[in-house]
Amino acid sequence: MSDQAWVCGAGGPLHGEVTVPGDKSISHRAIMLAALADGVCRIDGFLESADARATEAMFRQMGVHIEAPAPGARIVHGVGLHGLRPPSGPLDCGNSGTAMRLLAGLLAGQRFHSRLIGDASLSRRPMQRVTAPLARMGARIETANGCPPLEIHGNNALQSIDYAGEVSSAQVKSAILLAGLYAEGTTRVTEPEPTRDYTERMLAAFGWPVEFSPGRAALAGGHRLQATDVVVPADFSSAAFFLVAATLVPGSRLLLRQVGMNPRRTGLLQVLRAMGARIEEHAAGEQGGEPVADLLVRHAPLVGVDVPQEIVADMIDEFPALFVAAACATGTTVVRGAAELRVKESDRITVMAQGLRELGVHVEETPDGAVIHGGSLRGGRVHSRADHRVAMAFAVAAQVSKGPVRVEDVGNVATSFPGFARLAQEVGFRLG
Ligand code: S3P
Repeated sequence: MSDQAWVCGAGGPLHGEVTVPGDKSISHRAIMLAALADGVCRIDGFLESADARATEAMFRQMGVHIEAPAPGARIVHGVGLHGLRPPSGPLDCGNSGTAMRLLAGLLAGQRFHSRLIGDASLSRRPMQRVTAPLARMGARIETANGCPPLEIHGNNALQSIDYAGEVSSAQVKSAILLAGLYAEGTTRVTEPEPTRDYTERMLAAFGWPVEFSPGRAALAGGHRLQATDVVVPADFSSAAFFLVAATLVPGSRLLLRQVGMNPRRTGLLQVLRAMGARIEEHAAGEQGGEPVADLLVRHAPLVGVDVPQEIVADMIDEFPALFVAAACATGTTVVRGAAELRVKESDRITVMAQGLRELGVHVEETPDGAVIHGGSLRGGRVHSRADHRVAMAFAVAAQVSKGPVRVEDVGNVATSFPGFARLAQEVGFRLG
């Protein structure tokens, strides 16, 4: 996979309609909660990506019967909160930090031992942010110097905690809440900045009493999850690449159908609009309890902005796309308070800065962000460092570059957006 590359070039305007695949965060959680529920759940809109399928495969390994009657559909035969079976070997999370961190919490509450492993990128990512609070709850988890693999010793009685962490992370919050399902007493999590609340919303949909508001969540152990059907909306993070591309390419007009619009995910919209983007929302509605809307985007010239720090968490996965928008804007864009980008699938500050410099952009790195001086892009060869979102961001950049751009190591796009290249070509991207 790692030697796959795209050769991209500037094309004509982007036109047409796009429906992006299902939300990755929600797909993971749907499998997890459906597996632990009493009864049978149907999931529609499930993301057929490597990350979401890794979660599915791990639950199959723990004895959960999951049918796949059609692409994007799953029927999960829940085994109840205490019905998982010990896996016969290690559980492989692949590239997925969400799978590993959420499962660390969930598996800490089981009566059996388990071992979570991941690929080279995941094996470098910090896990102490979940193992430390879980240890306070009574879990016993060994790491390799704070990184995967995780050795989870089951059979520990968990106690609730009140947790106020320093990092705003939905993965950390979710790990603690999932362990809290098995803990005695009320588990509370407070975040510095609010993060996506899918775990809280979905637990509530499965009938578990949860109190939550932006930045806070609390639940007590001792209840049960009741099977309910889940409809997964389209992933805003996948839509983001098309929003930026159509904004940048002159003459473009693209309609993105029924995109998930949870306010904890749509920070990029605010920033792009502040930069001058023309993005309209139509046909607003609800899908699976989540707000959705059609997004109509037309080309518009952009100007640089200071990204407000308080919305960094609401666009944490969209910075590769934003860096490209900033590189094509008039003036300077400043990103601060985003040190988390350094511990994603790659160090996204360094990797984006390196690639943009290769394309002739002046970018200054800071410990927790970057200063991007907008201008025009030339062709070149950029490396995604096996990071799916970096690869897609550079495919977008190439659509407005003055020469061909070769993007190396794009195989991991399949972790979040299988079919990206085909969909992108259909609306006018030059990419092959
Ligand atoms: C996710 C949370 C985010 C995000 C990731 C998915 C989730 O990570 O970057 O792609 O599903 O909870 P953090 O919450 O650790 O920032």
